[in-house]
Amino acid sequence: MPKAKPGDHAAPSPPARSRGRLIVVANRLPVNRAGAGDWSRSPGGLVSALEPILARRRGVWVGWDGGTGRAPRPFVHQNLSIHPVALSARDVEQFYNGMSNRSLWPLYHDAIRTPEFHRRWWETYQDTNQRFARAAARVARRGDLVWVHDYHLQLVPRMLRELRPDLRIGFFLHIPFPPEELFAWLPWRTAVLKGLLGADVVAFQTQSSAQNFSRMARRYAGAEGTDARVETGPRAVRVRALPISIDFQEFDTLAADPKVVRAAKEIRQRLGGRRVLLSVDRLDYTKGIEHRLYMFEDLLDRGLIGVDDAVMVQIAVPSREVVPDYTQTRTQVEHSVGRINGAHAEPGRVAVHYFRRSLSRQDLAAYYLVADVMLVTPLRDGMNLVAKEYVATRRDLSGALVLSEFAGAARELRRALLVNPRDVDGFGAAVRQALSLPSEDARQRMAILRMNVRRHDVHDWARAFLEELEGS
Ligand code: ADP
Ligand code: G6P
Repeated sequence: MPKAKPGDHAAPSPPARSRGRLIVVANRLPVNRAGAGDWSRSPGGLVSALEPILARRRGVWVGWDGGTGRAPRPFVHQNLSIHPVALSARDVEQFYNGMSNRSLWPLYHDAIRTPEFHRRWWETYQDTNQRFARAAARVARRGDLVWVHDYHLQLVPRMLRELRPDLRIGFFLHIPFPPEELFAWLPWRTAVLKGLLGADVVAFQTQSSAQNFSRMARRYAGAEGTDARVETGPRAVRVRALPISIDFQEFDTLAADPKVVRAAKEIRQRLGGRRVLLSVDRLDYTKGIEHRLYMFEDLLDRGLIGVDDAVMVQIAVPSREVVPDYTQTRTQVEHSVGRINGAHAEPGRVAVHYFRRSLSRQDLAAYYLVADVMLVTPLRDGMNLVAKEYVATRRDLSGALVLSEFAGAARELRRALLVNPRDVDGFGAAVRQALSLPSEDARQRMAILRMNVRRHDVHDWARAFLEELEGS
């Protein structure tokens, strides 16, 4: 493990195109401390996206290991230098579950659940951000690029700049940045904006998020400038829309792996050779799982779909389970699955298969291969990588993607069947259309979708961001 060496604080900014290391600062590390000495892969899109990038270059990752109390010493994981940041039980409650996941997450996702604001959570958010900033300042050497990620760490860019004015600092928000109608609710909106404005480059998943941020910075943080460049005092901050993506090659290759193909065949047989409607999500209220089940139930109730012809498979990975809105979502989902199967299942033929567990990449790819129709229908989502992963596995151009208009991915994947998940009639009609799409139409759509994802893969995304940062 390379020894961390404090940088030269008085040094001037490094020249553009510096060949320093990449320091990622994110709440989650790529691995998560599951129990005594056990590590597992961390959940969610942030880790899925960043892992392949860091696998290709010398990198350092500063983040939380998922435990409480003393952090493990720095270690090396798959060529990557890992620097754990310790969170206490109180930090987990107030910074992670509280401010991050009960204030900011719902606020930034259209207030689908009502955000709560508490002074204590905010104080702990500030303290914890300060700790991440100090950890990054200790690890970074002169010339390194520091890339801070997501809503947990919005104060880090400014805090880090105060500690290390010599560094180039970038920030990427993986979730939507809300419009003024919602952002203005945040009691600490000015501090959050000033925190983000400490970066040289601030980037978002979509143009509308980028625009929302620039407008809020002008309105509430005294910044000036345009949508793409905001000025605070003598500093200019580049504001960009850079939609994140996946490692296309990884999923394309997995889909041709004989073991995966065999597993897919077996799953299909076990499902009774019926048409398969698949969904894969973190068990989160933003993902619209209840709305999706309701749509499917409605089609069954009206006899527009039958259990002899089609089956729905919902794979849901547990997430943020102590937050009450998540417990409630799980209860509602499980209740709906029980109700639908109670009314419609036949011997040997359930209507909905529900798996609440995390799967390996291979098993996930096998399910993608089995899916005649992929339902990706969040109520709001920064991007949604599952949609792109599905497309990358469809080498034979079969299959159809039904995609919510409210996922960032809908801005790029225009040839999917786009739906409003709250419009049960429109949603149901799109699913029926997906099931009966003429094969030439389906193939043409899938070919274009695959071209979109292949051309704009995660390496392309990282390259674009780092070029902005090095040139800033
Ligand atoms: P989010 O970041 O909100 O969780 P994304 O769709 O962007 O949503 O990313 C989710 C990531 O987690 C994807 O890479 C997907 O493959 C992975 N994932 C989702 N559900 C599971 C599961 N049950 N088992 C394993 N990985 C999963
Ligand atoms: C989303 C967020 C990530 C987060 C992930 C998993 O992708 O944008 O920042 O890591 O969900 O959530 P968790 O709370 O388990 O880290």
